Amino acid sequence: MKNKLEKNAALLGLGAFLLLMFSVTITVVLPMLQGDLYVADAAAPVYDDANVALGREIYRREGCFYCHTQQVRTIDNDTFWRAPKTELKDGTVVGDRPTRPGDYANDNPALLGTERTGPDLKYVAHRLPSKDWHIAHLIDPRSTEPNSIMPSFAHLPANELDALADYLLSLRDWSIPIVTYAKYMGPDILNAGDEMLPEDYQGTKNPYKPGDPAALARAEQLIKDKGCLACHGTDMRGKNKTNGWANPPFPTDWYKAAEKHSDQFIYWIVSEGTLKEDGTASGMPAWRQNGVSEEDRWALVTFIKNLNTKK
Ligand code: HEC
Ligand code: HEC
Repeated sequence: MKNKLEKNAALLGLGAFLLLMFSVTITVVLPMLQGDLYVADAAAPVYDDANVALGREIYRREGCFYCHTQQVRTIDNDTFWRAPKTELKDGTVVGDRPTRPGDYANDNPALLGTERTGPDLKYVAHRLPSKDWHIAHLIDPRSTEPNSIMPSFAHLPANELDALADYLLSLRDWSIPIVTYAKYMGPDILNAGDEMLPEDYQGTKNPYKPGDPAALARAEQLIKDKGCLACHGTDMRGKNKTNGWANPPFPTDWYKAAEKHSDQFIYWIVSEGTLKEDGTASGMPAWRQNGVSEEDRWALVTFIKNLNTKK
């Protein structure tokens, strides 16, 4: 009886050991041998900036990944989280894809996350390229997203908030140039006029009649979906130092833009954004690259121009 049990125990032990080895081989050893998983391509972020590296450390320490993933899946639901489709100067098309192993080649450890309590952040810098926005949101998430359940990180020292914001701005597809075309304006955008319009934007014409109800309704939906008012203020009067925007260029007062600017001008700024070439200034993303079609951009222009008829 004893013998039989011992024999079985030994068999059981051997079986368990083999099973463990098998699992370790397929989940650990094989991936380690598969060198191409560790090759960073042009799209993978590098962390050679000390502030970005510090921000990444704080992101890990504060457990941001408990609520945020950094992994864009192949399914349709995740299309929204992709980096914008962008044609480079040499004609290659980049962006608009799920993430792949090489994207994390420089991440050790990879902060993929498993829960999407908050949005996926892998390409958040394309959607929200403004450092000011990130700092304001970290200090008080309800100041930019009224219904946010994200905790406030106001207890972090200023240098750590700054580093976190720099890290968030590094979360993009690095093969996509930060700005291809925008013209940096700064605080005096309201003094600029049509003489600044780039060639492609001269002579463009709003297909909608002023106040077209369908365009206004479409624009209202877009303004909600794209979070325009997180930066421009729920009253559409823009934000400045007194209400939480630290650095110029302050987001424009839409009523003033409607008064001062032509349809073409507003169409140009909405299309191309206002980031500085090196991405350092707090600005607006190019909506042309962020899933807002030509027609929809004109709808937005119609909405903003229509504010001129209100007081
Ligand atoms: C308890 C869950 C939770 C934690 C922890 C958390 N967040 Fe969030 N986060 C959210 C939710 C929910 C949203 C969506 C609402 C909003 O924008 O505030 C969000 C939104 C965001 C956004 C805006 C993304 C977008 O596309 O609009 C950023 C950036 C962000 N979080 C960064 C962070 C950072 C950095 C940390 C850690 C310091 C963090 N979050 C910790 C839940 C969380
Ligand atoms: C991340 C913050 C941010 C978001 C989100 C944002 N904007 Fe802006 N926007 C700005 C800033 C900053 C400026 C001012 C740039 C300057 O003065 O150089 C600006 C300028 C503008 C202008 C100025 C045009 C003019 O004629 O003066 C318009 C119109 C505008 N935004 C529309 C929009 C629309 C429409 C959306 C949503 C689809 C949007 N913005 C979302 C930050 C933002």
